Amino acid sequence: MPGSGESEIVLIPLDEPGLERLLEAAVADAEPTEVMPPVDGPAGWTEARREAFLAFHRRRSLNPDTAIETTWVVEVDGRVCGAARLRPVSGRSALEVEAGVWLGRSARGRGIGRKVTAVLLDAARDGGAAKFVATTTVDNAAARRLLSGTGAELDVRGAEIDAHLDF
Ligand SMILES: CC(C)(COP(=O)(O)OP(=O)(O)OC[C@H]1O[C@@H](n2cnc3c(N)ncnc32)[C@H](O)[C@@H]1OP(=O)(O)O)[C@@H](O)C(=O)NCCC(=O)NCCS
Repeated sequence: MPGSGESEIVLIPLDEPGLERLLEAAVADAEPTEVMPPVDGPAGWTEARREAFLAFHRRRSLNPDTAIETTWVVEVDGRVCGAARLRPVSGRSALEVEAGVWLGRSARGRGIGRKVTAVLLDAARDGGAAKFVATTTVDNAAARRLLSGTGAELDVRGAEIDAHLDF
């Protein structure tokens, strides 16, 4: 599989047309559990999960009355490959920013996650954050490696891992 070296990776602020494209990419190339909170029902991209995916992003990013985070569509060479997000959270003393990234299966393992994370770190710093935090699971080797590569400290909490990096 080719690396991301010559690919153009662009983060585009999420909007309604982008959300439709993001859903298409998720359905084609990712498991629901990798890209959204659990929804009851049979496995796979059921109608209920597609609706929940759209509602999730509208509530958290697109509706100004309820938005709590900024989400970007990750495009690689013009193709939607995943999403990245930053959510300001109130830390003990300074602004913390919580980050998340997912990529479709066909885009993984090529260095794209690493580059997207670097963009998120810059955006968090530029936004005045003092701390960058993220959560993953013990069995997610790629995410663990990605997060430890930023210099973040990783704390194991049962099956979960909290990563935090002070700027
Ligand atoms: C986690 C995720 C964003 C990583 O992005 P990616 O583009 O696949 O990762 P990269 O290719 O940039 O690799 C990042 C690091 O992880 C390592 N890595 C990548 N895939 C790996 C795997 N399957 N197992 C172990 N390490 C892996 C790479 O070698 C690299 O480490 P290095 O820089 O020290 O060499 C991506 O795999 C993904 O979307 N997974 C599903 C959703 C998810 O788990 N999101 C994260 C939740 S916190």
